[in-house]
Amino acid sequence: MKNRKGIILAGGIATRLYPLTLAISKQIMPIYDKPMIYYPLSVLMEAGLREVLIISNPRDLVIFKNLLEDGSKWGMHFEYKVQEKPNGLAEAFILAEDFIGKDNVAMILGDNMFYGNNLPKILKHANERENEATIFGFYVNDPTPYGVVEVNRDGHVLSIEEKPVNPKSHYAVPGLYFYTNEVIEIAKNIKPSARGELEITSVNEEYMKRGKLIVEKLGRAMTWFDTGTHDSLLETASFVQTIEKRRGMQICCPEEIAFRKGWIDAKELSNLADKFMKTDYGRYLKDLAENGIGDE
Ligand code: TTP
Repeated sequence: MKNRKGIILAGGIATRLYPLTLAISKQIMPIYDKPMIYYPLSVLMEAGLREVLIISNPRDLVIFKNLLEDGSKWGMHFEYKVQEKPNGLAEAFILAEDFIGKDNVAMILGDNMFYGNNLPKILKHANERENEATIFGFYVNDPTPYGVVEVNRDGHVLSIEEKPVNPKSHYAVPGLYFYTNEVIEIAKNIKPSARGELEITSVNEEYMKRGKLIVEKLGRAMTWFDTGTHDSLLETASFVQTIEKRRGMQICCPEEIAFRKGWIDAKELSNLADKFMKTDYGRYLKDLAENGIGDE
């Protein structure tokens, strides 16, 4: 199968979170017990992607380097790239050209969180689709702040619009995109929108024109949060806390995923846990290292 690289886009200015983000990145904010960026990173890991490029603004990139390092502690490989200005999501593929090389790529936004039983299966399908792009459709009450996709009964994409005033469907496009290598060339050729950004919707439109856009609907068993406002930040944190306390299981824990995937062994996991032994997080990792993987 063709190799696929991962990108986390974690720049932006996060004006909707002011004053929290006046001096620091949104994607380092806590979602209950972990920094926000752990959540999108976990999705890429779940998809089996071990080589990840983290893109952020000149002010914040260093924080992510300090936090995530070169990835080897989790059996991964991380690279970093500055986005000078928030010129739009599609610019990521131009910035990532050397990193992507000849491979396919998946990108996730640094403020998106996904959770659900069938996520691994959905990611596997998208990853295995080598010659088409896969985006997702998530039913929301009010899709107007998002890209909105209209799909007919047999899964054919009829339209895709960025932040429409009169949306043609309730399906918002979450910030997770699986693309072929041609995304680099597509991103280079799209024109900035009226708001001056290279829109990801323009990339998706081009795939649609080429007859290569697949939209997978995320069903009821899936949860998607974008954590860009004060309320959604708190709601997502409460959601994570509720599930973790009730089930005694971690959500989007990179150390755990690395261990389950066999990218690190029990000894390495135990060493990572040693740092965190004053927390439930650390005790959870230690238990995992000592007693292995329980029921799924
Ligand atoms: P947005 O939420 O659209 O933008 P923002 O994070 O700057 O927030 P606000 O609307 O409150 O001002 O961005 C979605 C995600 O994409 C977020 O994780 C930041 C990231 N992003 C970039 O890294 N570069 C960009 O050019 C843009 C537009 C967004």
